[in-house]
Amino acid sequence: MRVDVVSIFPEYFAPLDLSLIGRARANGVLQLAVHDLRTWTHDVHRTVDDTPYGGGPGMVMRPEPWGEALDALAPVDAPPPRLLVPSPAGAPFTQAMAYELAAEPHLLFACGRYEGIDQRVLAHAATRMPVTEVSLGDYVLFGGEVAVLVMMEAVTRLLPGVLGNAGSLDEESHAHGLLEAPIYTKPPSWRGHDVPEVLRSGDHGKIARWRREEGLLRTAARRPDLLAALPADRLDKRDIAA
Ligand code: ADE
Repeated sequence: MRVDVVSIFPEYFAPLDLSLIGRARANGVLQLAVHDLRTWTHDVHRTVDDTPYGGGPGMVMRPEPWGEALDALAPVDAPPPRLLVPSPAGAPFTQAMAYELAAEPHLLFACGRYEGIDQRVLAHAATRMPVTEVSLGDYVLFGGEVAVLVMMEAVTRLLPGVLGNAGSLDEESHAHGLLEAPIYTKPPSWRGHDVPEVLRSGDHGKIARWRREEGLLRTAARRPDLLAALPADRLDKRDIAA
């Protein structure tokens, strides 16, 4: 997968050299390039922002450098990337979206700062490529950089060959629209707290059932919204009894 990131703070992306993402880059599973938006400015101050039309606080990113950046990274004669623009006004980023993005050959992230990017940049880009504004959650960050780090981590771990044990993808929280059951390791007893007996029983059927029920209970307690959104055919009789 090819990923381009455009930002006025390329230094934010240093962690993408580390750990499993760094290894995916070294292996060639992920071809990631980070670009400084100011490369596409032409004045001495390398200006990227200006005051908002209509008034209001803060500054807005001017369209010209963004237009040139997108022309360079998504040339009209090449297959278009999917453009992702982190924004608190975007569609929620979910595990389902991570899977969707992991299947794309080329992603292009545009990191806004200040109050955001002039909307015409997105309108123009949409004539050439699919554009999605994405939100990490209902809170406001300084800019899109940290959101891109989060999305890159969620997407990279889904790429084939990145996780040593791909089976862990099947069991983790959100894999089946539910939260994962609690997990334990050695020792069996620690500071008066014991590992649930069933997990030490060796009975794989019982263990699977216990994990399913604990996942359901946790989801009901912490994320009733997820449970309500679960298609009815994802719950069996035993789930309902639990
Ligand atoms: N930029 C600022 N706030 C954001 C958020 N919540 N999600 C994604 N990008 C953002």
